[in-house]
Amino acid sequence: MKAHHLPILANVQVSARYWHMTVDASAIEEPIRPGQFFHIRCGDSLYPFLRRPLSIYRINATTIEFLYLVKGRGTIEMSKLQAGDQLDVVGPLGQGFTIPSDANSILLIGRGVGIATLAALAQEAAIEGVQCTAILSARSRDDLLAADMLSELGATVIKVTEEDNTSDVLQVSALIHELMVKSAISAVYTCGSKRLSLVAQQIIEEYGVFGEIALEEHMGCAMGACFACVCDIRNDQDGVSSVRVCIEGPVFPLEKVVLA
Ligand SMILES: Cc1cc2nc3c(=O)[nH]c(=O)nc-3n(C[C@H](O)[C@H](O)[C@H](O)COP(=O)(O)OP(=O)(O)OC[C@H]3O[C@@H](n4cnc5c(N)ncnc54)[C@H](O)[C@@H]3O)c2cc1C
Ligand code: FES
Repeated sequence: MKAHHLPILANVQVSARYWHMTVDASAIEEPIRPGQFFHIRCGDSLYPFLRRPLSIYRINATTIEFLYLVKGRGTIEMSKLQAGDQLDVVGPLGQGFTIPSDANSILLIGRGVGIATLAALAQEAAIEGVQCTAILSARSRDDLLAADMLSELGATVIKVTEEDNTSDVLQVSALIHELMVKSAISAVYTCGSKRLSLVAQQIIEEYGVFGEIALEEHMGCAMGACFACVCDIRNDQDGVSSVRVCIEGPVFPLEKVVLA
């Protein structure tokens, strides 16, 4: 794990609440995996003191991209950075996603900014020739951001929103059941919604397929030292263990995560 000052190439607002940043990552020698994240210093002042974790949205030959929701002080400060500034990051951090070698068709289920975390996985699926279907769920059509990018990668994109009354859990659950059979899905990945993750957990158990989830927790150190980011995982002895999202995750086996 290394600290870097990455030159910002672009930082633009892409909808009412979301921004998209591209940085020059040519200084990073380590491989960068879908599902990994960077811990980012959001501005020059002392406050916000803590860095903020952001997933890697796209991994390119010499650049990486972030898609982020402007939520609180950290991301407000980040949105003020401009092309030519440097982004102070630590990373890449954490465990990324795995596509099983025998998977021919995968399903991504992302809610809100959760799709920013799953998008790089769609990129890897395209490189590996694995068919990808993505259910994008959001409050409004304006929040369905990665749809064009995923379509360009060859993914089948299904959009559901509260605005269109298409995103309630029962409807999405029925849709997933249909896709599991129709598209012969052999792996399911989810991020961004506890309710959809519970559905995905039931689905992978019912169909006996591989599943992974990317968890989001507030972080302090992102180096495994402060335990700010712990969550519960079922262990092999039928008990529950606490794990750190920053080190053991953020990607975990879907069947093991305690969501309730
Ligand atoms: C692995 C990972 C990947 C993520 N990827 C993305 C992504 O790709 N795009 C995206 O938009 N979001 C992503 N997130 C969520 C993102 O990190 C938060 O939305 C971001 O931290 C918001 O920061 P903020 O200061 O703007 O707002 P907030 O975090 O909402 O700030 C609100 C309050 O929370 C407090 N707070 C913040 N961090 C902590 C902390 N560690 N402990 C205690 N209090 C805290 C702040 O001080 C503030 O008072 C990811 C999260 C994780 C864990
Ligand atoms: S953020 Fe400190 S242990 Fe994970």
